[in-house]
Amino acid sequence: MSMINEMIRSLLEEPDMIAALGNVSACINEMYDRLNWAGFYLVKNGELVLGPFQGKTACTHISFQAGVCGACYREKAVQRVDNVLERKDHIACDSASRSELCVPVIVNGECVAEIDLDSPEFCRFTEKEEKEMLQAARDISEAWLKHQW
Ligand code: SME
Repeated sequence: MSMINEMIRSLLEEPDMIAALGNVSACINEMYDRLNWAGFYLVKNGELVLGPFQGKTACTHISFQAGVCGACYREKAVQRVDNVLERKDHIACDSASRSELCVPVIVNGECVAEIDLDSPEFCRFTEKEEKEMLQAARDISEAWLKHQW
């Protein structure tokens, strides 16, 4: 298991969701360089709502029909976007963003949250980050059930 996943696992021992995910976003932001945003969107009342994050102020509500985050929700699948300028449905919370990695957190077959990472660099996210964030999403899913989030 990689170092970032070991750290995230230990942070997920915290039973309060906001406290735990706040620290997970800080951990990702510290461990990955060349990011301009790292955080969570939470599924609430039929839309995506901004959760704990590190970075500039961001869109607070995103429809399931909109953005890379909406596609991640609908497809329940990772969205790794090398060049957001070429992605028609991309929502630019920060005009500096050039690539994005969005990973669904699946609990009992439902997408309940997303990990969203942005970078000012094209092609910042590789298979390595995708694999690590998929593992983080599985660990968050386990914590979700354990702590009854
Ligand atoms: N780029 C996302 C919006 C969220 S921000 O990146 C923080 C999207 O297209 O859904």
